[in-house]
Amino acid sequence: GAPAHSAATRHTPLVIAHRGSSQAEPEHTLKAYQRAIEEGADGLECDVRLTADGHLVCVHDRRVNRTSNGRGIVSTLELAELEGLDWGSWKAAHEDDDEVPDRNRGQLLTLRALLTTVLETKRPIGLAIETKHPTRYAGLVERQLAKVLADFGLAGPPEPGKHWVRMMSFSQLAVQRMRQLCPDVPTVYLVEDSMPLRFRDGSLPKGVHTAGVDVRLLRRHPRIVERQHSRGHQVFAWTVDRPEDVDLCLELGVDAIISNRPRDVLDAVRSA
Ligand code: G3P
Ligand code: CA
Repeated sequence: GAPAHSAATRHTPLVIAHRGSSQAEPEHTLKAYQRAIEEGADGLECDVRLTADGHLVCVHDRRVNRTSNGRGIVSTLELAELEGLDWGSWKAAHEDDDEVPDRNRGQLLTLRALLTTVLETKRPIGLAIETKHPTRYAGLVERQLAKVLADFGLAGPPEPGKHWVRMMSFSQLAVQRMRQLCPDVPTVYLVEDSMPLRFRDGSLPKGVHTAGVDVRLLRRHPRIVERQHSRGHQVFAWTVDRPEDVDLCLELGVDAIISNRPRDVLDAVRSA
């Protein structure tokens, strides 16, 4: 059939804030997400991990060491222990910040708190939630994610003009689990620089309709976008911070640009 996204139907890509507006604010804090929403981002990206007592928290690394003042592995710590850490001080404060410490800049963020913020936002916000693997809890992470999405009324099919959710993972198994648990939530199969050869022709794991592609891979293999589009798939590119990468994404017509600097990308998209 005809390509789903020919030049004639080229659309504006969604701009998704990677870990929030994380160039400016400490990643995965409420402050970083609030800023992304204020800046006009269409969507928010977050990584989720399960605590020892079964809560989903927004943390990228397996350990807390890089982004907090603590040490240890997220999945071995309880929510209260993680909440006792400072998640903001590792990143220098802005020169223009006033003396008043901003709690939202230094606190752990749970997925539930992030979803509450999304639902409170008047305009539709997308949430691209990534589960990290391997993990000691394996399928429990997806089961818990499915439960939280259902609790927030976000497990249904995407509707125009409403908040939306996508589940992403580098793990095919995780994506498939999520499809079984929440068949209506679209999934994104993430591919790094070492994209499996069998997906270079535009195919994806069964039932997945979006490729989440490392922009470094797009630099070397730009035709991935048209191949995915020709099969009716979408392409989300990450992590797109350099102006030349933003230009490449606009030229290739990707469907979403995931960036630590959503405001800069929005400016580039609007002036394209
Ligand atoms: O959006 C996908 C991207 O976040 C994957 O890489 O390491 O930043 O989670 P990472
Ligand atoms: Ca991620």
